[in-house]
Amino acid sequence: MTGELDDSGASMRNPARATMRDSLSARTYLSAWPTAQGLFHARPRVRQVARQLDVALQTILLCDRLRREHDESPVWLRTGNVGTLLIIHRDDIASILYGAPEPFTADTAVKHAGMSQYQPGAVSLCRGAQWRRVRDLIDTVLSEAADDPAHAATARTMARNVVDTHHEWDFRTWLELHRRLARHVVLGERAAGDQAVTDLLASMTASANRVSGRPDPSIPAFNVMIESYLRDPQPGSVAANLVELETPQAPAAPQLAHLLTKLGDTLALNTFHALQLLAARPPTTTGPIYMTAALQEAARLWPTSGVLTRESTHDTRWGEELVPAGTQFLIVNTFGHRDRRRVDYADDFLPTEWLDGGSAQSEMLFNGFGHGPQDCPGEELALSCGSAILAAVTEAVEIEPPSGVLRDDGRVAYSSQALAPIRRR
Ligand code: HEM
Repeated sequence: MTGELDDSGASMRNPARATMRDSLSARTYLSAWPTAQGLFHARPRVRQVARQLDVALQTILLCDRLRREHDESPVWLRTGNVGTLLIIHRDDIASILYGAPEPFTADTAVKHAGMSQYQPGAVSLCRGAQWRRVRDLIDTVLSEAADDPAHAATARTMARNVVDTHHEWDFRTWLELHRRLARHVVLGERAAGDQAVTDLLASMTASANRVSGRPDPSIPAFNVMIESYLRDPQPGSVAANLVELETPQAPAAPQLAHLLTKLGDTLALNTFHALQLLAARPPTTTGPIYMTAALQEAARLWPTSGVLTRESTHDTRWGEELVPAGTQFLIVNTFGHRDRRRVDYADDFLPTEWLDGGSAQSEMLFNGFGHGPQDCPGEELALSCGSAILAAVTEAVEIEPPSGVLRDDGRVAYSSQALAPIRRR
């Protein structure tokens, strides 16, 4: 982390104030559109509309203007009752992400209301000492899973199966592959074919998009399904390791919904994006190291978390201003990942930047997997399974570059082709 920080962990820059008009635009691009595209369950068709309307580009232009007008200071947005600060400077991003879980928690009001509908007790909804206990449990089991070559081998076999049985495949087929993988890795091999678990979970995450805050009526049925795997866990599965290490204060069951959706749905979107980019810019190698870097680069160019949010647990000082507890902080990955003023390769697909000697790993603007104590604990597992999948496909077939992945100037489009199928040449 760079930059001078004061005692509260916040920056020395005084916050500026956006006009009412800019605040309304910010509300549209930084809140309404991300919400419409699905906070807990991706809505590919809305993503497609967002692409047609150039929402990502409009977001970048708005943030770029606010940055220039306010000299990279945090900017207060007038967004109703809750104070919201847009964070732009690298050092301020670092202060916030490394200031987790206190004074800047990922357990924001909106996330809490949505996620608690289907997974109350998940790590992202915990605070203070409880968060530490649960996070330690998750870090341990996910790093063991990432180191287990059996999981990457399963991912490779499942991907080869799709390649061998399909001439082309759409996102739905791709999603099913990843959801099957998630059940296998998280709940054990005997859960791989248990489509009902995923269907129930998908219906709960889809209703969480409405952020009603009301517990989903399907939670008890989902828990019964999960308990059947936890009672007699299959050795080597994430569930088995969770059960072995759980404590009364950090139980295994409340974490499983989150792990299943991340390894199933989030990884599916990111590998789909990576395949589109690899097709447009074919590499000379299909090795796992390059494929890992390609996946990280896809998560940069088309981040599935376009905006990271944090909420302050107590007052924090920003320059001369005391910012009250409960303030929302927005870190806009859609902008920071593509900011040509700060990153000269912002719109190019350059996986080599993630390899030794590259600049991407230490770049605070890049938060495809987040940074700091509340970053993604599943990153290594996602990269090991995801790179195995990408290697299995690219070794076996050449893919037709989907139209629209590159712009007319040869740079990468601001949005992915959410619905374009992957086709062999
Ligand atoms: C390519 C795939 C993935 C991407 C792009 C991704 C991205 C992210 C990001 C950006 C965050 C932090 C959000 C924030 O700072 O507010 C996060 C958190 C998290 N991710 Fe991932 N993730 C991926 C895969 C996974 C996998 C495979 C797992 C586990 C099986 C996982 C488990 C989690 C958990 C539990 C958190 C919450 C951590 C906390 O609140 O302390 N993720 N992920």
